[in-house]
Amino acid sequence: MWSLTAAHRTSALRRLLRSLSSSTASRAVVLPRFGGPEVLEVRNDVSVPDLKPREVLVRARAVSINPLDLRMRSGYGRSIFEPLLPLILGRDVSGEVAAVGASVSSLSVGQEVFGALHPTALRGTYSDYAILAEDELTLKPPSVTHVEASAIPFAALTAWRALMSTARINEGQRILVIGGGGAVGLAAIQLAAAAGCNVSTTCGSQSIERVLSVGAEQAIDYTTEDIELAIKPQFDAVLDTIGMPETERVGINLLKKGGHYMTLQGEAAALADRYGLTFGIPAATAMLLKKQIQYRYSHGIEYWWTYMRADAEGLDQIRRLSEAGKLKIPVEKTFPITQVREAHEAKEKRVVPGKVVLEID
Ligand SMILES: NC(=O)c1ccc[n+]([C@@H]2O[C@H](COP(=O)([O-])OP(=O)(O)OC[C@H]3O[C@@H](n4cnc5c(N)ncnc54)[C@H](OP(=O)(O)O)[C@@H]3O)[C@@H](O)[C@H]2O)c1
Repeated sequence: MWSLTAAHRTSALRRLLRSLSSSTASRAVVLPRFGGPEVLEVRNDVSVPDLKPREVLVRARAVSINPLDLRMRSGYGRSIFEPLLPLILGRDVSGEVAAVGASVSSLSVGQEVFGALHPTALRGTYSDYAILAEDELTLKPPSVTHVEASAIPFAALTAWRALMSTARINEGQRILVIGGGGAVGLAAIQLAAAAGCNVSTTCGSQSIERVLSVGAEQAIDYTTEDIELAIKPQFDAVLDTIGMPETERVGINLLKKGGHYMTLQGEAAALADRYGLTFGIPAATAMLLKKQIQYRYSHGIEYWWTYMRADAEGLDQIRRLSEAGKLKIPVEKTFPITQVREAHEAKEKRVVPGKVVLEID
C-alpha cells in the first residue's frame, strides 16, 4: 500500500518538475494599468522568477478574491504600484509545492499547502505558479479542499494580527466585531470564540444565522437596529472591518477603559496616493498619532490601524483550527481563472455577496 502511494507521488512529482523545467513562463492574470475588470488580461507567457533561498514555488489550484485585489486594480496604492506595472494581483493561494529555494527546510516538493502574501507583495497569486516565502505557507489539511483553503489565509491572518498580536485577547474577554458577515469578520469571530472570548457582532440580516453558527453570541442587524441601544458596552476589544466614521464612533463608545479599537481602514495608503510617498506616509503617521493621543485622553482607550501581516505562528494556528473544522470561510461562488473579469465584476457589484474563488486547472 505504501509503495503504491509513493510510486504515485513520484510520478506526479516528475510530471510537475517536467512541466516546470520545460519553461520558466506561466499563465497569469496581469494588470497592465489601473481600471475596471476589463483591464485584467490572462497571459500565457508571464515569466516566473528564480527562487530566492527562502522562497517556495506553488502550483496554484485555487486563489481567492479579496477586496484588496479590487481596490488595487482600481488604483489603490498607486503611489507604490504605479511605477511597477504590470502587476499580478492576488494574495491567497492553495496548491502544491512545485519547487523550493535552497534554504527551505519545512516544506518539500509535492506537499499540498495554502497561504497568503503580504498586502504590498508585487507578484501576486493569480497565476499557475505563485511564489511565497516559506513562512507565508503551511500544510493544507487533507479534509479541506483547495477552494475552501484559498478563502482562509489572508482574511484569517488579518483577524489574527488584530486580535492576537495587537489586542492580545484572552479567555473570558468580550469582543465586538463590526462587520462580522465578511471574510475577515467571520475569521475574527471564529478566532475569538476559539480563544474562549464572548463575541458580539454587527452584520446584515442575511448574515445573522451564519455569524451565530460560527460562534458569535449576539448578532445585531446594522440595517434595522440601533447598535448602541442593542449592545451592552464595556468591550475589551473592537475590531472594525468597516471603518467608517460612524462605526468608529460607535466602536469606541462601546469599549471599556484600556480597551483596544482596531480599524482595518487605516489611511496610510490613501494619504500616500494623495500626497505621494514622501509626504503621505509622514502625514499618515501624524494622523494616527494624533488619534491615538486624542482617544487615550478622551476615552482612555488604545486606537490602532491594523494590517494583515505574515505570521508563521498565526498561520499554524489557523491551519490547526481549519483542520478541526473550527475556522471556515464559506465560498459563495467559483470561476475558472480565465473568467477573472467576470469574477471581479460579480464581487464588485455584489452580485455574489460572499467569497469568490478562482479555480486553476
Ligand atoms: N487592513 C488590512 O490589512 C485589511 C486586510 C483585509 C481586509 N481589509 C479590508 O477589510 C474590509 C473587509 O474585508 P473582507 O475580506 O472581510 O470583505 P468581504 O468579505 O467582502 O466582507 C465585507 C462585508 O462587510 C459587511 N458590511 C458592509 N457594511 C457594513 C456595516 N455598515 N456594518 C456591518 N457590516 C457591514 C457586509 O456584510 P453583510 O453581508 O453582513 O452586510 C460585507 O459582506 C475590506 O474593506 C477590506 O479592504 C483590510
